[in-house]
Amino acid sequence: MRCLVTGVAGFIGAHLAERLIELGHEVLGVDRFTDYYGREIKEGNLARLLGEPRFSLSTADLATADLRPLLSTCEVIFHQAAQAGVRPSWGQSFEGYLRDNVLATQRLLEAARAHGQVRKLVYASSSSVYGDADDVPMHESSRTAPHSPYGVTKLAAENLCELYRRNFGLPTVSLRYFTVYGPGQRPDMAFHRFIAAVLKGETVRVHGDGEQTRDFTYVSDVVQANVEAMEGGAVGVFNIGGGSRVSLNEALRLLGDLAGPVRVERGEPQAGDVRHTWADTAAARAALRYVPRVPLREGLAAQVAWQSRRLGLAR
Ligand SMILES: NC(=O)c1ccc[n+]([C@@H]2O[C@H](COP(=O)([O-])OP(=O)(O)OC[C@H]3O[C@@H](n4cnc5c(N)ncnc54)[C@H](O)[C@@H]3O)[C@@H](O)[C@H]2O)c1
Repeated sequence: MRCLVTGVAGFIGAHLAERLIELGHEVLGVDRFTDYYGREIKEGNLARLLGEPRFSLSTADLATADLRPLLSTCEVIFHQAAQAGVRPSWGQSFEGYLRDNVLATQRLLEAARAHGQVRKLVYASSSSVYGDADDVPMHESSRTAPHSPYGVTKLAAENLCELYRRNFGLPTVSLRYFTVYGPGQRPDMAFHRFIAAVLKGETVRVHGDGEQTRDFTYVSDVVQANVEAMEGGAVGVFNIGGGSRVSLNEALRLLGDLAGPVRVERGEPQAGDVRHTWADTAAARAALRYVPRVPLREGLAAQVAWQSRRLGLAR
């Protein structure tokens, strides 16, 4: 199969493209290398892919480029590109979130509709569509009430995918990822920051009391969900959680076992942060055969090893 992977230079897009190549597919990757974090990190994410004969890269901007030629030879689209990050989505930067998350998705959907031969369009949605829910675990039918501007844009794009599916029969699958981690994780994400601080002997800054919980999902499980979404017949919206729901305090204790002493400094809770996330993955299990495989200790150890290597520390 020839696949288009948007956001291919990012954390999840690069892992997904590598797996697709391993499985024998051809991948056209698209990324405009936004400056949200260092370009050298994204180039590092692509290093293995660039040597693959079945991989090619376009630096097109999904919000402005003519997308039809990009799609013309592809049968499956994995739409991972977005402006990520909850906390920076307030204020003036919202315009960028609208552009890269909503407008880019709408343009991609239009191009996919015009193409007429797309077998599947898999969209990287987010647990942020649920917002600060009291009622956990979150089911696909739970109320969506985003708690951040970022969540609003992810839900808007998901709604667009559903609209194009219902009106035009475009086979879209939206996977609501719950906090993804593992080697390559974005440097703004909590585990990345915590691990970097511990390895450098610095203080870990935690916003709030640390009793907030997250359903942490290892990146290879998210990748597997995408592969199943391509191969199976299911369409619609599915939660993709890791089955490793713990509080940040518990995660920090585990990190202490794996990486060394953790010194915590507490800060104020941040606007946009939710208290708990927890995925009910029964629908994904039934429709996509999705079963998370990597437990938190194993996944966190892999991320610690990766960050240690990046910092030049032997482990
Ligand atoms: N990482 C998580 O925990 C998580 C959780 C829920 C949902 N998601 C979603 O998964 C997807 C991937 O997340 P990630 O953590 O790998 O983020 P990332 O920032 O590492 O990757 C996103 C990539 O998209 C590219 N991009 C953005 N706008 C573009 C545009 N207009 N045209 C072309 N390329 C563009 C960026 O340059 C970046 O390389 C995103 O859609 C994100 O919203 C991630």
